[in-house]
Amino acid sequence: MFSKRSLVGISLNFSTLAVLFFMLLGSSVYAADPAVASSDEAIAAGKTVFNANCKQCHKLDQKNVGPALRGITDRQSIAWATKFIRNSQAVIASGDAYATALYKEYNNTVMPSHEFLSDGDLNNLLSYIEHGDKVDPAAAAAGAPAGDQAAPGAGGGIPNEYLAIILGVLVFVLVLILIVLGLIIRVLTNYIQKQDLPEEDKEFVSQKTNFSKILKSDAVIIIVTALVVAFVAKSAIDGLYGVGVQQGYAPAQPIAFSHALHAGQYEIACQYCHTGVEIGKSANIPSANICMNCHTHIQNVGGKEGVSPEIQKIYNAVDNNQPIEWVRVHNLPDLAYFNHAQHVAVGGIECQTCHGPIQEMEVVAQHSTLTMGWCIDCHRQTEIATEGNAYYDKLVQLHASSKDALKVKDIGGLECAKCHY
Ligand code: HEC
Ligand code: HEC
Ligand code: HEC
Ligand code: HEC
Ligand code: HEC
Ligand code: HEC
Repeated sequence: MFSKRSLVGISLNFSTLAVLFFMLLGSSVYAADPAVASSDEAIAAGKTVFNANCKQCHKLDQKNVGPALRGITDRQSIAWATKFIRNSQAVIASGDAYATALYKEYNNTVMPSHEFLSDGDLNNLLSYIEHGDKVDPAAAAAGAPAGDQAAPGAGGGIPNEYLAIILGVLVFVLVLILIVLGLIIRVLTNYIQKQDLPEEDKEFVSQKTNFSKILKSDAVIIIVTALVVAFVAKSAIDGLYGVGVQQGYAPAQPIAFSHALHAGQYEIACQYCHTGVEIGKSANIPSANICMNCHTHIQNVGGKEGVSPEIQKIYNAVDNNQPIEWVRVHNLPDLAYFNHAQHVAVGGIECQTCHGPIQEMEVVAQHSTLTMGWCIDCHRQTEIATEGNAYYDKLVQLHASSKDALKVKDIGGLECAKCHY
């Protein structure tokens, strides 16, 4: 029943909703930069040029090998930016104070010249740099990675702004309906109470909901007990299935090596360090020599003086000819056989499918359960990548009569001896 207070509550909620609603509307409109074109075609064309020539060193909103580029036309004129992109060394040689300072800040790293880019290319490039891949501020605050995934509307479906508006309108309509229903009930109650009713009916009309009576009723007690029992049983069964499963295991490592920094921010390919992953059973953990390819030069982060204590540990290992004692994270029991090359090179499965978002991890954690059920489930569901693989041609012909796709289970992926010695 609607008392006065609940009506006030509803109209309060309604005004908060209205405020939220207009804030959402407001946030989807951002100020336009008058300087460079912001049409979708220009941005798309610019992105192609960017990916082909600049991506290996630059990101839009984050420092990489070179500076974050967005806002360059605020920091400098368009003419300056164009000249710098065409031939940065010429601008630096001309004694331009900003350019020389920047060059020094980036440890005299030479940005290649791009004389071959046309004026049109450069205009598109600047459109992409200023307007491309805008990051949703809420997602950016939550630490979501910027870049290709954030391209507006790229995924198809209803864009986020519209979804928010539609939801807002729906909530608004629902609240209106509630208010109207409440008013109707009030009017009707008032009306009936004024009628000359038998005592019994009068009691019924003006009765209040008695919550404590409902809570003590048998039905509620039975339902609550059943829920509690089901919950305890489920936890117990899950717990038993979890014995020996190391999902989430993330031991501390002897050196604070970060995949988020190396594989994420600097985008070093997994295979550069895990050299065995496409050719053999084991992925391999890199030896200190591979680290030294870069760390002979890189002795500290962010251009700090001296040698970082963590990097010093690599030098100690090399000087003393001692291997770095990394703690193993993933480990199948000896009775099981797993081969990386078969899955990565032949099966074409991404590392992340099994290992999770390694490129975001400061410390590696085991992402999957690594149980037999996990292997089998995937073998039941995954189709085999047969295209361009002559080894499978005969099989594909034989399988053509079946209406189901060729799955790993069809080539013996459920046979005990395939996975057990
Ligand atoms: C090999 C790496 C590399 C590539 C490729 C590269 N840059 Fe750069 N860029 C740099 C570095 C390093 C700097 C810092 C200045 C310096 O060291 O010369 C820089 C500076 C800049 C600046 C000045 C930024 C500022 O904040 O003032 C702009 C603009 C720029 N680059 C645009 C581009 C564009 C556009 C492309 C592609 C057409 C590109 N760069 C390709 C490395 C690169
Ligand atoms: C610069 C070298 C380097 C790169 C690049 C690199 N890793 Fe690693 N990786 C290591 C080192 C060193 C370890 C061992 C220390 C640790 O666990 O952090 C390791 C450990 C791992 C482990 C855990 C191994 C275990 O003990 O079970 C996985 C899984 C892994 N890397 C996957 C990846 C993936 C996927 C990528 C690409 C997205 C990648 N790595 C890129 C050097 C690298
Ligand atoms: C392809 C080049 C490359 C390789 C190979 C490489 N690193 Fe790095 N490493 C970097 C870069 C770049 C940085 C960050 C420097 C910066 O931010 O100024 C870095 C930073 C680090 C840091 C951070 C130091 C600190 O004080 O925070 C550690 C630790 C490190 N690397 C360890 C390793 C280890 C261990 C290996 C070998 C398994 C390795 N790196 C292989 C390029 C590399
Ligand atoms: C189909 C799932 C799957 C895929 C795909 C996969 N891994 Fe693994 N990885 C595993 C399993 C399972 C283990 C544990 C193997 C063991 O203990 O014998 C493992 C172990 C590792 C290890 C520890 C060292 C070793 O070889 O045992 C590294 C490093 C590693 N993976 C890196 C990678 C990288 C890099 C990729 C992508 C190029 C990748 N993995 C793709 C399932 C996978
Ligand atoms: C993400 C999916 C996925 C997971 C998880 C997975 N596999 Fe596979 N596995 C595949 C695919 C795909 C192939 C087929 C590759 C090919 O084309 O030969 C395959 C093939 C195999 C084969 C060869 C089968 C044959 O008949 O030739 C073995 C053995 C195997 N996997 C073992 C394992 C083991 C052991 C695990 C668990 C530790 C595992 N796999 C987990 C996808 C997976
Ligand atoms: C796709 C690969 C795969 C296939 C096929 C497979 N297994 Fe397994 N099996 C595994 C893996 C991986 C483990 C280890 C799981 C773990 O450590 O939790 C395992 C574990 C087991 C264990 C438990 C051993 C222990 O110590 O707990 C038994 C028993 C077993 N498998 C029997 C079989 C039998 C019987 C078949 C054939 C019907 C079979 N497996 C087929 C991958 C496979």
